[in-house]
Amino acid sequence: PILQLAVLVGSLRAQSFSRKIAKALAARAPDSLRCRFIEIGELPLYNEDLDGDTPPAAWSAFRAAIRECDAVLFVTPEYNRSIPGCLKNALDVGSRPPGKNVFKGLPAGVASVTPNKLGAFGANHAIRQTFVFLDMPVMQQPEAYISNVSELLDANGAVKNGDTAAFLENFMGALEIWIRTVRPGGSSFDA
Ligand code: FNR
Repeated sequence: PILQLAVLVGSLRAQSFSRKIAKALAARAPDSLRCRFIEIGELPLYNEDLDGDTPPAAWSAFRAAIRECDAVLFVTPEYNRSIPGCLKNALDVGSRPPGKNVFKGLPAGVASVTPNKLGAFGANHAIRQTFVFLDMPVMQQPEAYISNVSELLDANGAVKNGDTAAFLENFMGALEIWIRTVRPGGSSFDA
């Protein structure tokens, strides 16, 4: 079956390198993965007081969108050696209310992106810490730490060199295998 892969980008800016890499990854996904970019920029900051019978519409729409997916790919920059607040907020919104965590059990992949060195390692590993409580089985190998990203993309945001393109394609192939390993029957929400 075709699998729905949610793509969450941890940057809100229009010219985001992370979004460009996310698009480059999605473009190299195997045919059996359907990538769906789910936007997180309009989610109100999580506040338990608002999470009653009528939560903010943007939260409900986000939760419903994730529920329709079989897996999640996170493509994130690093802010102060961790993930940006917008991405943490999206994780928090999706995790609630108790017992209704929409991320539970969904296989995940992580790619971290930076124009600097060190591959946004801090963000890549910080988000993995959240997966413990979110109960998301995350692909461990291959890892994707995208350093010096501005040198990898041309003016149109396309990947310039073959090695990087091959790396991204290999990552998506491995992610597809990981998703099918974790969820041989597809989404638990189909049941
Ligand atoms: C950064 N940046 C950054 N880079 C990095 O490699 N490690 C870091 O800890 C930080 N910290 C940081 C904090 C804040 C608040 C900002 C705004 C930026 C730089 C960051 O990698 C750069 O702005 C990227 O271009 C952000 O990713 P997008 O928006 O291009 O996807």
